[in-house]
Amino acid sequence: MDVVGFGALNVDRVYLVSEIPKAEEESYVIDVQTYSGGSSANTISALAKLGLKCGFVGKVGSDDFGRFLIEDLRGYGVDTKGVVVSEGRTGCAMVFVDRDGKRAILLDPAVNDTIKFDEIDLDYVSSFKVLHLSSFVCKVSWDSFKSQERLVEDFDGIVSFDPGSVYAKLGLKRIEKLVRNADVFMPNEIEVRELTGLDYKEGAEHFLKFCDVVVVKRGEEGCYVTNGRESYEVKAFEVKPVDTTGAGDAFNAGFLYGFLKGKNLKDCAILGNYLASLCIQRVGAKTYLRYLDKRYLPL
Ligand SMILES: Nc1ncnc2c1ncn2[C@@H]1O[C@H](COP(=O)(O)OP(=O)(O)OP(=O)(O)O)[C@@H](O)[C@H]1O
Ligand SMILES: [Mg+2]
Repeated sequence: MDVVGFGALNVDRVYLVSEIPKAEEESYVIDVQTYSGGSSANTISALAKLGLKCGFVGKVGSDDFGRFLIEDLRGYGVDTKGVVVSEGRTGCAMVFVDRDGKRAILLDPAVNDTIKFDEIDLDYVSSFKVLHLSSFVCKVSWDSFKSQERLVEDFDGIVSFDPGSVYAKLGLKRIEKLVRNADVFMPNEIEVRELTGLDYKEGAEHFLKFCDVVVVKRGEEGCYVTNGRESYEVKAFEVKPVDTTGAGDAFNAGFLYGFLKGKNLKDCAILGNYLASLCIQRVGAKTYLRYLDKRYLPL
């Protein structure tokens, strides 16, 4: 088996709004759509659509949204044996997108934060070559976070890790065990600054103490990737963004796909930028997956 994801499973309610309101302000909703989401679930769905054998470890509530998320993952060919269905609400991300494609997110972590280590089938997880981690909000409980810490220590394969803004805000000390056990670390530029106080290049250098490969996502600038021996600035594809939700998740999928296919660092980065460019040209983090086919990859 190829890649197993471990992270939050959310329903994304995407509101297209006239403006993203600040406190005491109001604006209006132009349209609203419901999508399946969760950062590593988005990445895993894309990898499955590209033909890799993928699975997922996570938790949903026993409600309609939970059933919707499981069905959705299965639709991309993801194995959902590792998804626990429990009492309580399924996680929900309310995403507000303005006309320029900028966004704000309000998260209801619900049951996501409550995954206990003994709810995870370790034999199942160890049947995969890569374990891909994304963040939990850690507002309801630290159970899922602690389970990630224990799982990365036990896992013999390759660990890839996207901290997202949530873990970046926790600070490096707090997430150090996860970073130390990651082989491929995939933050964005803002998260690097948050975690280290350094710019993306110096920050990436810093993380090389812990990780084999560091790839920093830099929005419309593209990305920076290094393994200490080779480093590349790889330009983004020139496209018009409509909605950047899930750009980082799509990037991770492209990068990891290349990595598993044995491509060189630069080509992995190009594949990351490519999938992200497809993602941001449509509203919704996974809408591009309908048209994704490995035969049309640029490499
Ligand atoms: N305006 C843009 N034009 C072309 N590509 C873009 C643009 N914005 C983002 N991308 C692509 O998306 C990738 C990821 O974007 P970004 O750096 O914003 O990641 P992120 O902040 O982690 O995303 P997310 O918020 O989805 O987690 C970039 O590395 C780049 O390839
Ligand atoms: Mg991100």
